[in-house]
Amino acid sequence: MILPIVAYGDPVLRKECTEITADYPNLKELISNMKETMYNASGVGLAAPQIGKAIRLFIIDASPFAEDEDLSDEDRAVLKTFNKVFINAQILEEEGDEWAFNEGCLSIPDVRQDVYRQPKVTIEYQDEDFKKHTEVLDGLAARVFQHEYDHIEGVLFTDKLSSLKKRLIKKKLENISKGKINADYRMRFPNLKKGK
Ligand code: NI
Repeated sequence: MILPIVAYGDPVLRKECTEITADYPNLKELISNMKETMYNASGVGLAAPQIGKAIRLFIIDASPFAEDEDLSDEDRAVLKTFNKVFINAQILEEEGDEWAFNEGCLSIPDVRQDVYRQPKVTIEYQDEDFKKHTEVLDGLAARVFQHEYDHIEGVLFTDKLSSLKKRLIKKKLENISKGKINADYRMRFPNLKKGK
């Protein structure tokens, strides 16, 4: 089932999400619905707060990035299979000199901006069977992880922009929260006036 994606301005996107356990109700179904929702919106990641649940769960399928012609064969191979469920994820370490990448977010349609992040992360998470993993990610895989991880901490990529850039997109963000946007997927708007 395709779920509506929560738009910028909804307080659920600002919550520090809580950990879950294997007995979380209907978890398998929730994950499967999140996947369907992400693919329907052509996203490479989707975090639980974006469908209205403040829990530490997100999914990533970065395989579309594997088509990027500037990648090394090694990076391409990693991205092709970077399709995972992340439960109770933590970042243990972030390393390296910050680099810019043009990010977007399904909750903030039509806004894309360069965001600076460190290139390498050591992470810990549980998969959908609650098996624990520790991994090192770099490049685009790290980038997508960091963006989704921010969601479960209540952080959006627009928070990371310079104050000038923030001013420039302020009106656009307000419009998104009011539903004044044409996304080609279903959304839920916090400030949509009833009856309009
Ligand atoms: Ni996002």
